[in-house]
Amino acid sequence: MSRIFSGIQPSGELHVGNYLGAVRNWVALQQEQDCIFCVVNLHAITVPYAPDDLRRRTREMVVSLIAAGVDPEVCTLFVQSAVPEHTELNWIFNTVTPLGELERQTQFKEKASRQESVMAGLLNYPVLQAADILLYRADGVPVGEDQVQHLELSREIARRWNARFASDGEPFFPEPRALLTPTRRIMGLDGQAKMSKSMGNTIGLLEPADSVWQKLRPAMTDPARVRKTDPGTPEICNIYQLHRAFSTPDEVETVAVNCRTAGWGCIDCKKVLHESMERTLLPIRRRAEEIAATPARLDEMLAAGAERARTVAGATMVEVRDRMGIA
Ligand code: TYM
Repeated sequence: MSRIFSGIQPSGELHVGNYLGAVRNWVALQQEQDCIFCVVNLHAITVPYAPDDLRRRTREMVVSLIAAGVDPEVCTLFVQSAVPEHTELNWIFNTVTPLGELERQTQFKEKASRQESVMAGLLNYPVLQAADILLYRADGVPVGEDQVQHLELSREIARRWNARFASDGEPFFPEPRALLTPTRRIMGLDGQAKMSKSMGNTIGLLEPADSVWQKLRPAMTDPARVRKTDPGTPEICNIYQLHRAFSTPDEVETVAVNCRTAGWGCIDCKKVLHESMERTLLPIRRRAEEIAATPARLDEMLAAGAERARTVAGATMVEVRDRMGIA
């Protein structure tokens, strides 16, 4: 069994991009591997936020993950701040991470360009991410494509730390690999950028059916299809990408044929997608309601998850401190 770790920020609703890029894979992997999943609230404070809001969103993210199929009975699910070893290892890794590597990170450059003054926490964000993963000595990290650069940095940090403090015999930290899926990069409804909360182009996993439809109806399709009678190219259409993720193989085939022959207009195609999505999303919404109705049980599950995580994290840190002469 290999050790799997992944995390998600509580920076807003769990959306279809998160689900198809990462969380659906978490659900599949938890059955076969030793999986540890984390809601990374300490990453979320690297941009301006309101404390009460963060508390609420953290909880909602946990509810959404469980509703989506992450099973705290099968895997370890916890909130990052409940395991202080994450920040200890983060500090340690800061001492082996070249500044230039951090300044080169695309996500840092993007986020920094949107802010008036940039805090050191935003720059060090991927170092905390490396600490998250390596604290559990995980070798597989199920993520979407946008996290690949951060994962490369985690590998680099593992290599540098190993070279200094574990040069004898086996490397102490494995070099973690990104586990990607065919749906590694889901585009937003505008068809312009990846689906992302900050772009306002998402569909929430818990969104009611009518609200999903309000978003699907005006969503971007093949730009060459101006009139209903224009034949389309499914492969370049964002809606077709979602069909491939949510519809049955027969439905996907029907959609492709009717698009190419202009048998259907884009609205017809979107109606079928809406029904397919409802098949997946309705049970998730129902489960979320049930979970949210028993908050004490949720607290117990999170406490048990954090305890399990701390056992592994604590053992790693004993070894790390010893090898570094800070025990
Ligand atoms: P975050 O919270 O932005 O996203 C969570 C996961 O969803 C994936 N994702 C997508 N996949 C496909 N298409 C999209 N449009 C899309 N949008 C998001 C992300 O790739 C991610 O897998 N830095 C991380 C959180 C993190 C982490 C970690 C991840 C902190 N520590 C340790 C893995 C391991 C982030 O901001 O993800």
